Amino acid sequence: MNLFRKKSIASIASQQETLRRCLTAFDLTLLGIGAIIGAGVFVLTGIAAATKAGPAISFSYVIAGFASMFAALAYAELATSIGGCGSAYNYSYVVFGELIAWIIGWDLILEYTLSVSTVAIGWSGYVKDALLTLNIHLPDHLLKNPFDGGIIDLPAFLIIFVLAILLCLGVKHSARFNAVIVFIKLLTIAVFIAVASQHVKISHWSPFFPFGWHGVMQGAALVFFAYIGFDALSTAAEETINPQRNLPIGIIASVIICTTIYIAVAALLTGIVSYTTLNVKSPVAEALLQIGSPIASGIVAAGAIAGLTTVMLVMYYGLTRIFLAITRDGLLPNVFADVNAQTHTPIKIILTSGILIALIAGLIPIGSVAELVNIGTLSAFTLVCAGVIVLRKRQPILTRPFRLPWSPLIPLLGVIFCVYLMANLAIVTWIGFILWTTLGLIIYFTYSNKRSLLNNQ
Ligand code: ALA
Repeated sequence: MNLFRKKSIASIASQQETLRRCLTAFDLTLLGIGAIIGAGVFVLTGIAAATKAGPAISFSYVIAGFASMFAALAYAELATSIGGCGSAYNYSYVVFGELIAWIIGWDLILEYTLSVSTVAIGWSGYVKDALLTLNIHLPDHLLKNPFDGGIIDLPAFLIIFVLAILLCLGVKHSARFNAVIVFIKLLTIAVFIAVASQHVKISHWSPFFPFGWHGVMQGAALVFFAYIGFDALSTAAEETINPQRNLPIGIIASVIICTTIYIAVAALLTGIVSYTTLNVKSPVAEALLQIGSPIASGIVAAGAIAGLTTVMLVMYYGLTRIFLAITRDGLLPNVFADVNAQTHTPIKIILTSGILIALIAGLIPIGSVAELVNIGTLSAFTLVCAGVIVLRKRQPILTRPFRLPWSPLIPLLGVIFCVYLMANLAIVTWIGFILWTTLGLIIYFTYSNKRSLLNNQ
């Protein structure tokens, strides 16, 4: 049994005929910002400042930003030289072989599914508050999952179906919807920065490192969640016009813009109120209330709803494309692999994964599993960075429309940063990750290995 059979780059190119190329560099940058800015900055900044890093949370953002930037450069190189809609799964298939590709694909399915479900639950929380302020009262049992004494978290359940319809209609429709909402999201962040910068008190930054350097690193491992999403752009390689040029622009521009925003927001947030008051569900809106700016607080809450919507949309999109890549290779049932001839979208996959995400979001109190999402994403980033080094050695003359600078230093730093952040995650996160990976291995050895297209050629 050859567990490390590798796919050729030519075979990935031959699979790319069904999705439609319609995304520009601008669309991609907006999709990137859409996927990146969400619960991470609107929720986790406060929690991480209060419990992990204190005012030094902006340093945590810088460190997580470095890990993401190195990985973003590696993604840009592999997405343009290997391509395909499977992202890290595809690159691993070419570089490390089928078993590793399966493990990473399986982990990506978990990460993307969980991130959409948890963001849907956070989104539902903000929407409930907004409905209350508008004096609209929904019955309590339709706002809580069965574990919290209700029947279903209906807003969390329903939003997934709205997004599923958008995704079925086609990627260009989804990109247009995303662009409008990203604009609103950026506007609300600008409001926060404008208001907060007038209320900074230097005394709030002291002590700056209440939890020491260790706290800063633990904060970085947590707020890394805020950067997740640019990797979903690489799943759009088959739907991008001139991907060799546009993908690197989209990936790198969105990471740079978001890093700048995060550092500014984190510094201002801990500058306007004491970090000890930030361990709440909506820290950015609460901080504005504390400084006596209820209107700005309301605007930020609306921006958070908008922000969370696009995160769900783009992560859900990425999930369906990775799923499609895996089913095309026969590692999951390839009855799902059809792409609708009219909309050019994988409707069966969108609906099946949508039902699963909606059920998790509506019925299960997964609370905050951000760290589980982080560990899977960090493992994918590690493999993508390592993949650049291995592929440069193994195929030195391969055409690389985008070459990351200073190789192997940059990808090596990417590996080091990602592994270090993983090491700073909680034991319980590691246990969850190992259990999921073990389940994946059982499926691989009982099903996928036998059905693999490559195995049967
Ligand atoms: N980066 C995304 C967020 O912060 C996942 O919500």
